[in-house]
Amino acid sequence: MGRKFFVGGNWKCNGTFDEVKKIVKILNEGQVPPQDVVEVVVSPPYVFLPVVKSSLRPDFHVAAQNCWVKKGGAFTGEVSAEMLVNLEVPWVILGHSERRLILGESNEFVADKVAYALAQGLKVIACVGETLEQRESGSTVEVVAAQTKAIAAKVSDWTNVVLAYEPVWAIGTGKVASPAQAQEVHFELRKWLQANVSPEVAATTRIIYGGSVNGANSKELAGQPDVDGFLVGGASLKPEFIDIIKSAE
Ligand code: G3P
Repeated sequence: MGRKFFVGGNWKCNGTFDEVKKIVKILNEGQVPPQDVVEVVVSPPYVFLPVVKSSLRPDFHVAAQNCWVKKGGAFTGEVSAEMLVNLEVPWVILGHSERRLILGESNEFVADKVAYALAQGLKVIACVGETLEQRESGSTVEVVAAQTKAIAAKVSDWTNVVLAYEPVWAIGTGKVASPAQAQEVHFELRKWLQANVSPEVAATTRIIYGGSVNGANSKELAGQPDVDGFLVGGASLKPEFIDIIKSAE
């Protein structure tokens, strides 16, 4: 069975209430392929999740950008997976490189979060990706394999996992990976899953690309055999997000 194309919009730490309402309006009016062709998930900051969830068209879903690693309690500033489930937020992004690099989240910590979120019933967009230095030193595959390995060590059921390959050097830089560069890493990740998890998980897990995706480059990237969609940052705040969703066709 084919892997359904997946387009996520990661709004990061952006937006005022008025801006968020404008983005939702654009999304709600956009003409996009049907749900059996593309799955669309947008990820506003926590404070806007309820309003976006309640005003967004029913064929689009929401994701949180992070959640806590275990059951909630005395963890000031954190939001638990249980709270997301309680609000019927179906998805969460975990392991984004901005959290790994700026907030020091390790491979093991991210893997613990992924396992805990899945156990609570959330679906997870798990991010991996190498820095420019790591790419230039030839260790891209080793880095993303180690990040994936940490997750695989704690997760047995991959049904609710989407793997997002986001090379750090391509995030917010305007330097998108070429279709060949993206395909190469996606292929290696799928090969890794095949050898280390199972052929079935390798065949069915969606591996999406993130890093300077826009309305002009999405179509060609989407044409790569192992690119099953996108995690979009900057362009997900603009009308061109609709064009990116259309690249599923
Ligand atoms: O999670 C999406 C991301 O990090 C890519 O950001 O702005 O390069 O599309 P951007």
